[in-house]
Amino acid sequence: MEVENKNVIVTGGAGGIGKALAWKFIEEGAAGVVVADLERANPQAVADELGERASAFAGDVSEQATVEALVAHAEEAHGPVDLFCANAGVAIGVMLEDDEAVWDTAFGVNIRSHIYAAKALVPGWVQRGSGYFLTTASAAGIVSQIGSAPYAVTKHAAVAFAEWLSITYGDAGVGVSCLCPMGVNTNMLNAGAGDDGVTAGDVVRAAGMVVEPEQVADDVVAALREERFLILPHPEVLTFFQRKAGDYDRWLAGMRRLQAAVTGA
Ligand SMILES: NC(=O)c1ccc[n+]([C@@H]2O[C@H](COP(=O)([O-])OP(=O)(O)OC[C@H]3O[C@@H](n4cnc5c(N)ncnc54)[C@H](O)[C@@H]3O)[C@@H](O)[C@H]2O)c1
Repeated sequence: MEVENKNVIVTGGAGGIGKALAWKFIEEGAAGVVVADLERANPQAVADELGERASAFAGDVSEQATVEALVAHAEEAHGPVDLFCANAGVAIGVMLEDDEAVWDTAFGVNIRSHIYAAKALVPGWVQRGSGYFLTTASAAGIVSQIGSAPYAVTKHAAVAFAEWLSITYGDAGVGVSCLCPMGVNTNMLNAGAGDDGVTAGDVVRAAGMVVEPEQVADDVVAALREERFLILPHPEVLTFFQRKAGDYDRWLAGMRRLQAAVTGA
């Protein structure tokens, strides 16, 4: 898929990877880009920077009615939606003792919002024979992660949902790609995943695996062009994934060693 002349929605578009995607899509000649984010993230400021082909939508995508209103806004402002980027995410929660509300937030933002968007858009895409869903999951969605159970679990769910969309609707004209980076230099990485001293940022920085959001956006556009499912800005992730599939118990033992090294336990 070429982004030129397409109408795009980017959730979590006011910062980090989402903002870089929105800029890249405008550079690639998108007809319309909706920058969707929480009010406090100020999506309007980013839409103003992007110019007249962009518009802003403020709201919480973990609510189904908000996602429906987002799609309605995009259609009214720019026309039918060609590409939905389910990119908003939260890296919260650490261990089993976390309150259920933490799990609810992680499920709401990191996976349920994707389901709401697919429900709002995929039937129309199947009818017209085209449409594209980009999931921002994470390497944590294929090779898990040290530290946050809700993050690892919901990102696996996001990958599974993207796979399911591709399997179910791929032959009906619906394209799906799934972005699975390790460290990206954004607020999320710099804030870390938890408050017990172990953060996703610690792990990926120690491994020297942090890239800039603009590089991720370049990788996304290249993958959309090829209509390739898996987008790995860190190619090492493919090796980790293959090792996991090749010998699950060995991979788990390696992850425990990594956790011990990171926590000093
Ligand atoms: N930074 C990394 O190292 C990294 C690695 C792998 C995957 N990711 C994923 O990339 C995506 C983008 O994250 P980022 O790194 O750019 O971080 P970020 O914190 O800069 O961006 C996340 C955006 O999502 C928005 N958001 C959060 N909850 C929302 C909600 N309920 N409704 C609407 N918007 C909401 C935030 O306001 C923020 O602008 C996330 O899904 C994240 O899990 C990030």
